[in-house]
Amino acid sequence: MPTPVITCIDDLKQLHRRRVPKMFYDYAESGSYTEQTFRENTTDFARIRLRQKVAVDMTGRTTAATMIGHRVAMPVALAPVGMTGMQCADGEIKAARAAEAFGVPYTLSTMSVCSIEDVAAHTTQPFWFQLYVMRDEDFVANMIERAQRAKCSALVLTLDLQILGQRHKDLKNDLTAPPRLTLKNLVNIATKPGWALGMLGTKRRSFGNIVGHAKGVGDLSSLMSWTSEQFDPQLDWDKIAKIRDQWGGKLILKGILDPVDARRAADFGADAIIVSNHGGRQLDGAVSSITMLPSILRAVGDKTEVWLDSGIRSGQDVMKAMAMGAKGTMIGRSYIYGLGAMGQAGVTRALEVMQKEMDITMALCGATTVDGLSRENLLIPADFEGAWA
Ligand code: GLV
Repeated sequence: MPTPVITCIDDLKQLHRRRVPKMFYDYAESGSYTEQTFRENTTDFARIRLRQKVAVDMTGRTTAATMIGHRVAMPVALAPVGMTGMQCADGEIKAARAAEAFGVPYTLSTMSVCSIEDVAAHTTQPFWFQLYVMRDEDFVANMIERAQRAKCSALVLTLDLQILGQRHKDLKNDLTAPPRLTLKNLVNIATKPGWALGMLGTKRRSFGNIVGHAKGVGDLSSLMSWTSEQFDPQLDWDKIAKIRDQWGGKLILKGILDPVDARRAADFGADAIIVSNHGGRQLDGAVSSITMLPSILRAVGDKTEVWLDSGIRSGQDVMKAMAMGAKGTMIGRSYIYGLGAMGQAGVTRALEVMQKEMDITMALCGATTVDGLSRENLLIPADFEGAWA
C-alpha cells in the first residue's frame, strides 16, 4: 500500500478513525455530555486572526523555546492521555520515543497502558509524569516514588478530574482496556488487522501503572470504575501541598480555567499552570481554554508560566496561544491521531506538521523567534472574552 501523503493533522485523524477500533477512536474523539466545550475549544481558535507582515528579514527563524527551563524544539509538550497504549500497541513507549527524538517533552498518564518503568526502560531522556490523586494514600506515595525512581523531570498534577464527566460514547461502547471479546467488538476488530496484530504481539494490554499496585478495585479494566471508586473527591490545596512536598521537584498544575484558581496556583508556587478544560471532556458548558487565557494571564502576571491545552490542532494554533502570552502548550488528540494512524512514525509526522505550520506562519507574520511573538501578531475580536454577567 502506498504511504499516504499527510499534509495536516486532520489527515492523521481520518487514518486513525479507519485503523483503530471504534471504542478507542471514540474515546479520543469525545467530549462530555453535549460536547459544546469540546467543539468550542477548536472553533474559538479560528476566531483569532493573524496579522500579515511583509518585508521583514525572515532568515534564521526558529520555533525553539523553553518550558520550565527545558529547551524544546517548539513550545509543545505531549499531554498525558489515558489508554494511549490501546490506540496502538505499546503506544506510550512509541509516543515517548517520538517526542524524545523530536525534542519535545512527553507526559505519561497515570492511566497509561505501558507502565512508568516500561517507558523509562525504553527512553533515554527524562519524561514527565501525570498524577491523579487517589483515595489510597499509599498508592499515591508509591506512585510518586516510582516517578522519582524513573527520573521523571516534572510532576503534572491534574486537578479537573476527581470525578469523571460522562462521555456518552464510552458508555455505549462499553469501553475497557483490553476490549471485552464480545461479538460486536470482534466484528469491529476484524476490520482493523494492523491494530490487532500489534496487540497480539505485545503483553501490555491493561493499565500498567495500576494492575499489581492497587488494592480493592472492582473492575481494573474500566477507567470509569477506577475513577469512581479510587479518585479522591476530597482533593484540596492542603492535599496538593502534601504531594508537592512528597515530590520535591518541578510541579505543573493542570486543569485550571478560572483566574482566581490560577492566582492561587501561582501563589502556591507551581512551576507552571495549564489552562485547560481537559479537552472538553469534563465540565461541558465551560468556555474554551483559549477564551480564558487572557484573563488568567492578567491574574497571574509573571508569577508562574502559563501554558494552554484543549483545542490545538495546528502550528497556527500554537502560535496564537504563544502570541497571546502563553509560555507553552500541550497537545493530546493531535498526536494521538498520528499514533493511531501510523504508530511512532505518525506521532513524529504530527510534530513535523505542526512545526512546519508554525514556522511558515511565523515567517508570514514577520516573527523569527517564539519570544518575539506578542499580541501585535494577532487580531482578536473585541468580544473574544465574552461579556458574561
Ligand atoms: C482521562 O484523563 C480522560 O479524559 O479520559
